[in-house]
Amino acid sequence: MKATETINADLPIGTISRHIYGHFAEHLGRCIYEGIWVGEDSAIPNTQGIRNDVLEALKKLDIPVLRWPGGCFADEYHWKDGVGPRESRKRMVNTHWGGVVENNHFGTHEFLALCELLGCEPYICGNLGSGTVQEMQEWVEYMTFDGESPMANWRKENGRDKPWRLKYFGVGNENWGCGGSMRPEYYADEYRRYQTYVRNYGGNRIYKIACGSNTADYHWTETLMKQAGSHMDGLSLHYYTVPGNWENKGAATEFNEAEWFATMRKSLYMDELITRHAAIMDRYDPEKRVGMIVDEWGTWYRVEEGTNPGFLYQQNTLRDALVAGLHFHIFHRHCDRVHMANIAQTVNVLQAMVLTEGAKMLLTPTYHVFEMFKVHQDAEALAVHTDADSYRNGNEAIPQVSVSASRRDGKTHISLCNVHPGEAAQVSLRLRGLSAAPKVSARILTSGEMNAHNTFERPDALAPQAFDGFANVSQEGLAVQLPPMSVAVLELS
Ligand code: AHR
Repeated sequence: MKATETINADLPIGTISRHIYGHFAEHLGRCIYEGIWVGEDSAIPNTQGIRNDVLEALKKLDIPVLRWPGGCFADEYHWKDGVGPRESRKRMVNTHWGGVVENNHFGTHEFLALCELLGCEPYICGNLGSGTVQEMQEWVEYMTFDGESPMANWRKENGRDKPWRLKYFGVGNENWGCGGSMRPEYYADEYRRYQTYVRNYGGNRIYKIACGSNTADYHWTETLMKQAGSHMDGLSLHYYTVPGNWENKGAATEFNEAEWFATMRKSLYMDELITRHAAIMDRYDPEKRVGMIVDEWGTWYRVEEGTNPGFLYQQNTLRDALVAGLHFHIFHRHCDRVHMANIAQTVNVLQAMVLTEGAKMLLTPTYHVFEMFKVHQDAEALAVHTDADSYRNGNEAIPQVSVSASRRDGKTHISLCNVHPGEAAQVSLRLRGLSAAPKVSARILTSGEMNAHNTFERPDALAPQAFDGFANVSQEGLAVQLPPMSVAVLELS
């Protein structure tokens, strides 16, 4: 199979917001508890209750932003239950996710400490579905008010003198579903009311995010933009890649080529979704002031055998690595509108970066793509012209190769995905706009097995390797021999 990719190093199309590489951690299954929070008295080495192994692994991803506490959990979370002395915090039932007891030991202070340790922006999702306007107003006051006020005083009593800086705040989550089963017309009015009280205290400036559409609900986007567009900074979008359907999603590690193909095809659907939602946003906001916030995306499979169905614990294979690569390329292409994206979810839930079992931890193939692609964060996306053959399965076809390029600090990075499980791709990379022949280095994530993955017994079975499958490097270009099922990143300096 052959592909010609023209990289226009002199034609930047916009800046790739680093927030596209964002994360999402919900009180769901073992994401927060066990996966991130073990508590200060745990035998697992920790910093302020946060496990060190996970912290160190996540730090290497340069996580720009972390969304919390949900998800569906957000619209039944009452933040006041999660501050103050831990032993006296209220215990509640996490009705959405497994009906387990939530002891509220991980609350506002713990989350914001985690963000400080990771060096990332917090993105807090408020409770519009079952919470009050007052509760939402007071949460923002508690976190950001610097001075004398009931909430700021309470924060100080709870051990934090200075306010935190909080930029991203979501006004509800999936309010068309678990967040209140609302119609867009109703939610738009509710959004307008709640956001009024999400105040900017002192120098803190909140970027307000309204709940957006479920997948292809274009009417939701239209209504929100029309009725509330001028009151928001961002509008979310949720889309999950499910190889089968919601009743029969398919397994994370046991799948055939048809399921592999369906997963790739459904990942690419994100491009159509963004294009069509963005076209509606353009009508009401031609200056592109309102960011599209894809704050939930990723694969969703059947849970692993023997695990709580409400915990959404799934393994993660080379297939997920390609899904991640394809999504990033789509987000890069739409960097004029997509301001943030948050993979669901960071640890032990859905398309996770990290899986844990007791004191053990492993990095997933998806983790490795986030790590390899971090060079694109805040870089200038370059125009790429593609002329590639298709990967066919039955009557369906998708492009076999996906390429994206960006430039930062004098270096050009080109990421490539070959989604075909059986065919290598001869990629001719034509470079326009370089002043000299570049020095090239590269890494690749690949395997001979579609379902290659890491286990607690073999945590490094799949990891990036140095890659030398390129030749004929000149100022005009180079030739890359991209193995089947691979994600590669080339650095040109
Ligand atoms: O990420 C899991 C769940 O998926 C989230 O809680 C919800 O917002 C979405 O339906």
